[in-house]
Amino acid sequence: MRVVLGIESSCDETAAALVREDRTVLAQRIASQDEEHRPYGGVVPEIAARAHAERLAPLIAATLADAGMELSDVDAVAATAGPGLIGGVMVGLVSAKALAMAGEKPLIAVNHLEGHALSPRLADASLNYPYLLLLVSGGHCQLLEVQGLGQYRRLATTIDDALGEAFDKTAKILGLGYPGGPAVERLAREGDAKKVRLPRPLLGTQEPHFSFAGLKSAVLRAKENQCRPGLDPGPLAVDSEANSNRPAVPGQARDDEYSDADIAASFQQAALDCVLDRTRRALEAAGDVTALVVAGGVAANQAIRAGLEKLAAEHGLPFVAPPLALCTDNAAMIGWAGMERLMRQDFTPDALDFAARPRWPLDPDAAPVRGAGVKA
Ligand code: KG4
Ligand code: ZN
Repeated sequence: MRVVLGIESSCDETAAALVREDRTVLAQRIASQDEEHRPYGGVVPEIAARAHAERLAPLIAATLADAGMELSDVDAVAATAGPGLIGGVMVGLVSAKALAMAGEKPLIAVNHLEGHALSPRLADASLNYPYLLLLVSGGHCQLLEVQGLGQYRRLATTIDDALGEAFDKTAKILGLGYPGGPAVERLAREGDAKKVRLPRPLLGTQEPHFSFAGLKSAVLRAKENQCRPGLDPGPLAVDSEANSNRPAVPGQARDDEYSDADIAASFQQAALDCVLDRTRRALEAAGDVTALVVAGGVAANQAIRAGLEKLAAEHGLPFVAPPLALCTDNAAMIGWAGMERLMRQDFTPDALDFAARPRWPLDPDAAPVRGAGVKA
């Protein structure tokens, strides 16, 4: 059976994996850079690129050793060639080119988003095309009809922030550190999602696009108002009918005060409401699909998973979400995307000339979205 070596370096995880065509992940290693980026509250591209350059070669060697394999046992090398932080992508792609040349193996240039999009098929052999995919990560927030290998119809994208970015910014506002998504989810479990009234941007609009910048600003306002007990937190901040007409008593604690956990829970609920409304709309806009699928780092969020599972059931569709380790950036998904392309002999034959791409939309024909700061 064929084996592909997958390499991922597009953001802040340096990763390598060996994936066999029967969907067995023979070995995989991930070196996270959380410690390097934590002091800055986000990924610093230059630091990321250096860390990838230092770690990738030994990581690949260790992954091969874990599986008791050598480069000669591998049938192809697949590396993320974009989109992502260009320095990191170049490190991974150049390393893959060197290995492919030295080992005389085909090189498969993989779109990182295709890695996420196909990761549920690595985890679940019964998942067939076409499926509706909600792709939610730190850099991307899209609804895609996955019609086949390399055939993607983008139904929606974000007009400003990605969902993972909104989680990370909320974490920053609440002083939870980086990466923020898991920390916000943990804190939200202790909070009351009805305590802080937050907006649901674009809810109910015809096209299923996303917007999270306004939600983030409202979280910031809620946090600022929380620090001034006795002041009226304003119409956006507190959703408590019983308290809304009470005069604020300066300096005195009011029983409509809310904790950081309440902010986290209210934020997560607002985000979930947006995700469900937008995905419902996309299900109406898509053709017949076999399943509702979620992928990308935010797919690790249990509340979002549970909401989507219910939505899928309402539409009589199976819900497919990869295991947590396949949701956040990893090389197994890159290896698997490479494997799907190797099995179909559907990859750029001259990939040694392939230049790393900071942007690489899955659906190049998708119409641009009106709004500021459009992301691919
Ligand atoms: O796919 P990924 O590892 O990297 C990108 O390609 O962006 O996604 C990382 C993003 C981060 O924004 C992180 O905060 C978010 O996924 N994330 C979560 C959770 N785990 C990771 N967001 C919400 N809840 C989580 N449990
Ligand atoms: Zn990713």
